[in-house]
Amino acid sequence: METARFGRIGFIMAAAGSAVGLGNIWKFPYMAGQNGGGAFVLVYLLTVVFIGLSIFIAEVLMGRISRGDSVSAFEELAPKHGNLWKYAGFMVFTGILILSFYTIVIGWIFKYIFISFYSLPTTVESAGTLFGGMVGVEWFQQFVFFNMAFFLTIWIVVRGVKRGIEKVNIILMPLLVIILLALFLYSMTLDGFQDALHFLFYPDWSKLSGTSLLKAVGHAFFTLSLGMGTIMTYATSLPKNEDIVKSSFMVAVIDTLIALGAGIIIFTFIFHFNAKPSQGPGLVFISLPALFSQLGILGNVISVSFFVALAFAGITSAVSIVEPTTLYLINRFGMSRAKSLTLISIVTYIFGVMAIFSNVKVYSHYFTYFGKGYFDILDYLSSAILLPLGGMVIAFFVGFVMQKSRVHAVLSKYMSETVFNLWYFSVKYIATTAVALVMINKLFFS
Ligand code: PHE
Repeated sequence: METARFGRIGFIMAAAGSAVGLGNIWKFPYMAGQNGGGAFVLVYLLTVVFIGLSIFIAEVLMGRISRGDSVSAFEELAPKHGNLWKYAGFMVFTGILILSFYTIVIGWIFKYIFISFYSLPTTVESAGTLFGGMVGVEWFQQFVFFNMAFFLTIWIVVRGVKRGIEKVNIILMPLLVIILLALFLYSMTLDGFQDALHFLFYPDWSKLSGTSLLKAVGHAFFTLSLGMGTIMTYATSLPKNEDIVKSSFMVAVIDTLIALGAGIIIFTFIFHFNAKPSQGPGLVFISLPALFSQLGILGNVISVSFFVALAFAGITSAVSIVEPTTLYLINRFGMSRAKSLTLISIVTYIFGVMAIFSNVKVYSHYFTYFGKGYFDILDYLSSAILLPLGGMVIAFFVGFVMQKSRVHAVLSKYMSETVFNLWYFSVKYIATTAVALVMINKLFFS
């Protein structure tokens, strides 16, 4: 068992680094754009407060008490049938699936940092051709950038909790905040700023469908890194006497502020140049570069800063996606960190390469199963099925399986009785039901 612990601000930085990722800067804005803005944002915020935060605290609690990998946590904390409950730790494998496509997207971001320096596309059409070409035709470039992102991530995790993960987060997170703050201040000077605020914070309920409501719930999971043992695993390295409730709260606040801030920045540009907010996943890779290019050299500076920030956010999350499986192999099989990561890399790398080729037009038919490309399968399987399932299992376990007295003994140090009761109710009933609804919706209606 490894014993390295995070330093004082190390845990908050690392957990916030995990939470703040492509989900905040790439996914949240385009989802808000597609689902009508304000009403979606409000539902997402309510979900973060009433469900996300509760499960977050539950995950931290499990890691804190067990101080083992996610499989051991279930095994040890179950009052009986630990040998069966250990299978609830299936979530340590979800990371392998997520990492393979997550590092592909970070690779795209790397390429866009280069493009931002010298050749921003000038129209939305040419930007679309550029993006389509990168993903669907010129696989070699994409492959090279994927390798960079992939091995950088693995290298950081090989260096361990303190010298790798904590260090990277302590450097990159403040830089990320500074870049976003600068972009935010600049966006305040543009005409689109007011429209962006209106779009994101003025709920128009007629635009909120049942599906978008449930999408907001699902996204709250993804954005807080819940349901795959990441937060549980990081919490095993918590410094002694850390106020786990306060830290969880802070991470949720940082994550939310960054998502909203990024949303405001992006929509300011969109409205400033009269572009459409509802363009889906291409919002950041297609519309933004074309809009930035209209600002001349300043546009290049803004574009480089934006994609660098996105890369930082992505890397600190990618690292947290690998750590649960790594700790599991170290802990249960006595492997060294290097050996455990070699094994994980081999499997993840093969998945990643298959996912790349599933998007390349001439090869895609080899990697299309049940009518879906392998890239989309990985994304769907993890965010539609495995993460919500993991979150529900954690909520159920802490709410119904663990002894209440044990849970109370730890949390009552940091919560008043009323807050504890509210939290417990939320974990037991609200979180489990809401997640079940999300899954039923995703599996059968979309
Ligand atoms: N929270 C990260 C993001 O918003 C993604 C993530 C999911 C990280 C699950 C770790 C575990 O991009």
